[in-house]
Amino acid sequence: MMKIKNIILAVSIVATLCSCESNTYEDLEEDVIVDVEITYDTHIKSIIDNNCISCHGAGGVSSFRPLTNYMEVKDAVENTDLLDRIQRQNGETGLMPQSGRMPMNNIDLIVEWAANGLPEN
Ligand code: HEC
Repeated sequence: MMKIKNIILAVSIVATLCSCESNTYEDLEEDVIVDVEITYDTHIKSIIDNNCISCHGAGGVSSFRPLTNYMEVKDAVENTDLLDRIQRQNGETGLMPQSGRMPMNNIDLIVEWAANGLPEN
């Protein structure tokens, strides 16, 4: 069984309290640690389905490199420049998807998932 590292996301929450009576402000800072296990089934499949398989699926313009299931996506991450391409800037040659960069959250999830050894579920 594959050993899976957990991602630690540190979220810093700053709450500002206002004391109207004395008219002073106090800042509270709190660190919240969240354990998130990024898996293909839970996080990655929906991103790829929504952004890639219209072309990287059966009948698509780039069906030579299908991304329709776990084994295909794993193979593409390991044997192509997929991770590099999704992180290219808008207008840069080879950016995927071609229409424009995905939201940063999607890119981060895929990069972290790969760094964690591509767990399926
Ligand atoms: C509008 C169609 C389209 C979409 C959407 C699209 N691609 Fe592509 N993709 C292509 C085409 C066409 C090529 C082949 C030309 C090239 O390499 O740029 C390609 C090539 C690639 C390659 C290189 C494949 C290889 O074998 O070298 C990767 C990796 C890739 N795309 C990943 C993705 C990912 C990941 C997404 C979604 C985040 C995505 N693509 C979305 C059309 C698309």
